[in-house]
Amino acid sequence: MKPGRPITVSPLDSAPDPGAALTALHHRTSEKWRRHEPGVQPAHIAEMDFPVAEEIRRAIGRLAAEGDMGYAFSYTDDSPAQAALAGWLLRRHSWWVPRSRILFYADVMRVMEAGLEAFSAPGDAVVVDIPAYPAFFEAVAERERELVPNPMLLRNGRWQLDLAGLERAFRDGARVYLLCNPHNPTGTVCTPAELTTVAELARAHEVTVLCDEVHAPLVFPGRAHVPFASLPAAQKVRSLTGLSASKGWNVAGLKCAFGIPAGPGTAEALLNQPPRMRDGVGVFGAAASEAAFSAGERWLDETLRYLDGNRRLLAELLSAGGLGEIGYRLPEATYLAWLDCRSTADRLGEDDLARRVLRTAGLAVSDGRAYGSPGFLRLNLATPRLLVEEMVRRLARGLEAPQPSAGPVTDLLIDIGTV
Ligand SMILES: Cc1ncc(COP(=O)(O)O)c(C=O)c1O
Repeated sequence: MKPGRPITVSPLDSAPDPGAALTALHHRTSEKWRRHEPGVQPAHIAEMDFPVAEEIRRAIGRLAAEGDMGYAFSYTDDSPAQAALAGWLLRRHSWWVPRSRILFYADVMRVMEAGLEAFSAPGDAVVVDIPAYPAFFEAVAERERELVPNPMLLRNGRWQLDLAGLERAFRDGARVYLLCNPHNPTGTVCTPAELTTVAELARAHEVTVLCDEVHAPLVFPGRAHVPFASLPAAQKVRSLTGLSASKGWNVAGLKCAFGIPAGPGTAEALLNQPPRMRDGVGVFGAAASEAAFSAGERWLDETLRYLDGNRRLLAELLSAGGLGEIGYRLPEATYLAWLDCRSTADRLGEDDLARRVLRTAGLAVSDGRAYGSPGFLRLNLATPRLLVEEMVRRLARGLEAPQPSAGPVTDLLIDIGTV
């Protein structure tokens, strides 16, 4: 893509109606678009309904045209993708990471799982902030670790880590902390002060911090992502950061992620694991990562601008659509909306809102129970605007929204400077 050429993030904005946009997207082959019949609007699985950046499509196209589809060159510290990631981390986050510290993994959950296996044993306590990405629960349970839930707090209009709860859990003997930052599903971006406290606590109690930073590229203006391991206070903490291009550039199906170990003995412990732990990286994923981290910034920034509009639009639509009873805070990062529907659940006497919305309105959303938070729903907003509007119409139907009141459009819109 030539510099300066305009990027159309969402070509389906010119679709004549939501039905046409949905029909076009139902041709996609991903789980998100194939799980349900064509009448259903999927707003659950975290992938974007936009075309992938041209730079990435070209990189993959080259491999496809040349039939270059062998095993990825991933047991190395000398690949173009590692160099591109190191450059990205330095440019975007002022974090200098030597290439030799960047390990390939097939996906970010593999990184978290590798960390759990390397730095804890069956029966050990693992702290997880609640709500949590459901795969965290599975990763802990499958390895027979003891889950220690630490519910997040809604303070000053912002979901925050409960640092006092974390300290208690660490003092009580936790071995590992699974930190998701930026946070799925609340969209919170931890501040440097919060992360510094986490680092100080981890150091004092010798807890290993596994940092899932897969959503780091998707931070909105007003907040900045600070990698945990880049903080001065984290320098003596054992940590493992997982990141990838998969969420930011929408290439999750290509299978390529990175683990960055830090602290004494961390890299050695991971390198001593069976090599299969780091297997499964795809050549397309490696090429896409290189393209994203070296040349994908303009596409990402345009996409973030579009998503910024969507997260604000949702606040207006909820209020205008009679859904003002739903609690919604603008996410600071991610294209996910975390909706507090507890009063709706009470009004309807219903504890499975996702199923109700799917059956009665044809909208697939993620249910809070899977995240450890009954009464909440998670919506995926990375879709054309007319489908955000359609999403809210379906939500209103499924939740039997009362008629909208004539009050102010919304008191939910929070200026991003204060979120
Ligand atoms: C917090 C978090 N971690 C990991 C993943 C999955 O990433 P991967 O496919 O690279 O394992 C997701 C996907 O939504 C996620 O939200």
